[in-house]
Amino acid sequence: MTLILGIETSCDDTSVAVVDDAGHVLACKTASQVEVHEGYGGIYPEFASRAHVAAIIPTLEATLKAAGVGPDDLAAIGVTRGPGLIGSLLVGLHTASGLGAGWGLPVYGVNHLRGHLRSALLEGGRVDYPAIVLLASGGHTLIAHMKDAASMELVGTTRDDSVGEAYDKVARMLGLGFPGGPAVDRAAKIGTATTRFPRPMLGKGFEFSFSGLKSAVRRHMEQHPEAHVPDVAAAFVAACMDVLLGKCKAAIERYLPASLIVVGGVSASPQLRAGMAALCADKGVHLALPPLAWSTDNGAMIAMATFDYLGSAPSLEVDPNLRIDVL
Ligand code: KG4
Ligand code: ZN
Repeated sequence: MTLILGIETSCDDTSVAVVDDAGHVLACKTASQVEVHEGYGGIYPEFASRAHVAAIIPTLEATLKAAGVGPDDLAAIGVTRGPGLIGSLLVGLHTASGLGAGWGLPVYGVNHLRGHLRSALLEGGRVDYPAIVLLASGGHTLIAHMKDAASMELVGTTRDDSVGEAYDKVARMLGLGFPGGPAVDRAAKIGTATTRFPRPMLGKGFEFSFSGLKSAVRRHMEQHPEAHVPDVAAAFVAACMDVLLGKCKAAIERYLPASLIVVGGVSASPQLRAGMAALCADKGVHLALPPLAWSTDNGAMIAMATFDYLGSAPSLEVDPNLRIDVL
């Protein structure tokens, strides 16, 4: 059994995990920064870096203890090298390279987006190829095509905001707090979509745009300050779902994949999970979703992705703008 230590510090969570080559998570500990940032309604990069510095060693120690393993049991260390906030990334990279030097282990700089991709293989997850990937997170919204496990062709990305960013900004407008995704979901569940917001770029290729939808919600709230917040949240979620599902349906029809992989923080949305399950059942396509706990940023997905890097020349170069089609 090969064990890998994964370290994730690209944004606002300090997360460390030990994962085996079957995708079983022996332990994953995450120090959340919600309390650091919630007063600002968004993430403050400098505060994020400092919080990572304070949390990373205690989080590492707690993870090794919970996994019941020591450095001698590990085959390698994987650490996020991008995309993300540069200061936050550097805390993880420097810690990992220090540990690698001290413990005599190879350290691989891992693409965070490849981490999300491989989250679908954790805890018994399976992907059949060819596959279509929808990655919907706070930083990204993209569709990619994988002919096989090693190939990656970017098919479409967002022209402006990501869908997760739209959730977070709409949460702020509606006074639902931070982090926005789960709060908007909860409100939407008890609301009724009485307003119809635009479905940006639906039916027009594989590119996304969420900035106009966000502005439509803002205008609606300015014109109807008395609006029932859960109803507005429901109308916003309905528009997001139509766009994400519509683009995935078009990608399935165009590429005829064996699997649809849906990953990234927004894949924690129960509405998205249910919609994708119905779409895949209808199309006879296998739906590969990460277990709910591994949808949002975590060290386990970085450890899992590290298996793709074993044997390659390790790169610890930080890259805040790394693309999904680069390993
Ligand atoms: O993948 P992730 O943890 O971080 C990035 O790589 O960006 O994604 C975070 C995003 C946030 O925008 C958050 O609002 C969204 O995922 N999110 C959700 C849910 N949980 C997190 N969006 C919709 N429904 C959720 N339950
Ligand atoms: Zn992420």
